[in-house]
Amino acid sequence: METIDIRIDGRTASRIYGGEVLSEVTTLLATYPSVFLVYDWNIEPYALPLAQALHAPAKAVEAREADKTLDTVLAICDWLLESGADRQSLLLAVGGGITTDMAGFAACIYKRGIRFAFIPTTLLAQVDAAIGGKTGVNFEGYKNMLGVIRQPEFTYICPQVLESLPYPVFLSGAAELLKAFIIDNRSGGYAQAVTLLTELHARRSSQPLRPEDKTRLGALIHAAAAVKADIVGRDPEERGERRKLNLGHTFAHAIEKRSGGAIAHGEAVAIGILLAARLAEALHIPEATGLADRLEADFRACGLPVDCPFPLGELEDAMAKDKKAEGGSIRFIVPEGIGSVREVLLTGGEAINRIRI
Ligand code: GLY
Repeated sequence: METIDIRIDGRTASRIYGGEVLSEVTTLLATYPSVFLVYDWNIEPYALPLAQALHAPAKAVEAREADKTLDTVLAICDWLLESGADRQSLLLAVGGGITTDMAGFAACIYKRGIRFAFIPTTLLAQVDAAIGGKTGVNFEGYKNMLGVIRQPEFTYICPQVLESLPYPVFLSGAAELLKAFIIDNRSGGYAQAVTLLTELHARRSSQPLRPEDKTRLGALIHAAAAVKADIVGRDPEERGERRKLNLGHTFAHAIEKRSGGAIAHGEAVAIGILLAARLAEALHIPEATGLADRLEADFRACGLPVDCPFPLGELEDAMAKDKKAEGGSIRFIVPEGIGSVREVLLTGGEAINRIRI
């Protein structure tokens, strides 16, 4: 995979590297005086050999949505202090988006900020969560309510680690992969992603990721990461264009909250994108005519959920408290075709009423 630079204000603020095997990351870390590794205990068979190769102290964390709390971040800070991490140290997070968000946040506040890098081990984190520097935790039942945006030194993407992912966890990243191409389809990745994901879904219980699948998937991950890197480079603080990356997310966060955590983020994003497409049609955006049905058919073929399991009215309260709500209104990102989105300002109630009509 070619290296992707995230350029902010004319300088490289972060880099995305790709590699065939996890151990290649050691060369990227050779110049850091000390490395501390935080990992999701589910991927211990990958993380511990890496920690050994790096001579890095390692700490496992539970990485469920319910564990994404200030307490876990403080536990990471405690461990850093006890293990002697100083301002020259680098914190390496290995895991999915919950792990990278929490460890990144800990690195941002420990000793007023130490350097950090990510090895995302889920598809969702490889194409979204571990790129762009959003870190943080849930608070008072609301997702990612506390946090900061600060770029990692680098993100190292290695499709090898996806091999052992349980299929539902893999699939949970598919919506974020498709989301990137619904926002910007310059690479033609949307149709390729639908084709590959449909094939993988058809033989989900019989075969793991084959070498040729990995090559195709690697190219799509690269293209999706490039979409995000471009947008983040132009708007790192989410003052404008970066909001596009929230396509489907206002609905998704409300669905996750209403489900009490039973619906995974990636599943909720799939449903949220479809609701956003229905909203675009309800608003009579001409380019969006027929789009929701097309997306629904594609998502279904990929094995993604397409129906909101709750009456839409039950999402309204959670949407009002979304961290993106401003003075009662929310900037909904809606698709107006494959490769193009726009922003519309509505209250949650208005959006729901429009979709219902
Ligand atoms: N997950 C959306 C963003 O990083 O902006």
